[in-house]
Amino acid sequence: MRAKSPQRWIHQDLERARELLLKNVSPPGAIPGAIVASPSRSNPDYYFHWVRDAGIVVKAILSLYQSAAQPAARRRYLSLMIDFLDFSRHIQRTAARSPAGLGEPKFTIDGEPYSGPWGRPQHDGPAIRAIELTRLAFVLLDEGKRELVREKLYDAKLPTDSVIKTDLEYVSHHWREPCFDPWEEVWGHHFFTRLLERTALVEGAALAARLEDAGAARWYLEQSRALGDELLLHWDPGRNHLVATRDQDGWPSPRSGLDSSVIVATLGGYATEKDLPLEGVSPYPVDQEQVLATAAAVERAFEAMYLINDPSMPIAGIAIGRYPEDRYDGYRTDSLGNPWPSLTIAFASYYYKLAERYLRQERAVLTSTNLPFFQRLPLEDARFRPGEELLRGDPRFGDVVDALRRKGDAFLERVHQHINPDGSLSEQMNRYTGCQQGAPDLSMNYAAYILAAEMGGHRPSSR
Ligand code: NOJ
Ligand code: NOJ
Repeated sequence: MRAKSPQRWIHQDLERARELLLKNVSPPGAIPGAIVASPSRSNPDYYFHWVRDAGIVVKAILSLYQSAAQPAARRRYLSLMIDFLDFSRHIQRTAARSPAGLGEPKFTIDGEPYSGPWGRPQHDGPAIRAIELTRLAFVLLDEGKRELVREKLYDAKLPTDSVIKTDLEYVSHHWREPCFDPWEEVWGHHFFTRLLERTALVEGAALAARLEDAGAARWYLEQSRALGDELLLHWDPGRNHLVATRDQDGWPSPRSGLDSSVIVATLGGYATEKDLPLEGVSPYPVDQEQVLATAAAVERAFEAMYLINDPSMPIAGIAIGRYPEDRYDGYRTDSLGNPWPSLTIAFASYYYKLAERYLRQERAVLTSTNLPFFQRLPLEDARFRPGEELLRGDPRFGDVVDALRRKGDAFLERVHQHINPDGSLSEQMNRYTGCQQGAPDLSMNYAAYILAAEMGGHRPSSR
């Protein structure tokens, strides 16, 4: 049975996630600001600065910065973010030595593009970096640090010498081109990449406007609209879920298109989004009916696939993997995929965020598309009809919000069931035993944890 109050173990897992995450930021011997995906240097070698992974880590550091009570802690987090900025500017320059340019997905800790064969380009990296740094820019502007923002983050010049504008120029000129997916395996147009590119452009336009770069703001918005039209094509009404990749090319052959990255994308990259000035403008907010349908379909697929999700052992929430056809076990790609802690944690964020959104809107609407999602909620009496509207004040509305939060906690509890005794988490959890496997101490796990705990209101009392 579930413990009554999840607070205690969540705080403990959170505190250890914070400590372990910081070990992967600017590790000894690296250029300051480099963030390794994992400390593992062999089998697998993840000792690189992946642009995507690092972007998510910086989002978590920004969240720590914003919630830190002690001035010393705030100074430390700010200086980590500034190092990250300088490192990012550096690799934006060295990326010219990669055939993928700014689409190069990974860099050495010395700031050189990875030179071996790889699935490149990947366009989500610059988009994620731009999103997280744009949020940082807004926070710093609100704190009156305008000079710092103009110097390092957004300079309103062309050619630009600032990180965000470099990324926005890249995204706004390259989003039409296919690239590799966030799992670095298939070529095509990806919902994850496209939604994040769109988010980067919309938020970037807001920043450009605030910094008197009106022409650029217009251009980024124009591109974001065109990109929004492409996103609509990812809906598959027959299967009732959003499809991760369109125009797919290459290995591994046919996929259902069911993929947890679609849900992660709606979080804005594991986002809390509280700090986002333009919240609400996404065409795919967490409560959009197609997103809800996709979340239900993803859960259903993994529930049936992984032994640790056996419903006869309902210890906790569902362990979530990348996509059902996955064959990467953390060491080799001709095996069988597993659930991932970072994705299971991201589902917790998704549920917390959804609860918060319904509360803010004071209503939840049922449709024939999102019905499967509501039917899966842990409720005694879950009889819902399409067309129904649950309004705040109606006890069923309260029950739904409560069920969403409990389900969010359950995903964290699932990870807690399989966590190592020292609080560490690897890239994957074995599908039969739940044991940690693949790259140890994956930065993304810890970043996702910090963001989910924040989203779920599970804040530590100190720091
Ligand atoms: C193959 C995996 O499927 C891919 O996602 C991963 O990034 C690379 N190997 C690196 O280990
Ligand atoms: C494989 C994952 O599929 C990819 O998303 C990630 O960037 C790398 N590993 C590094 O963590």
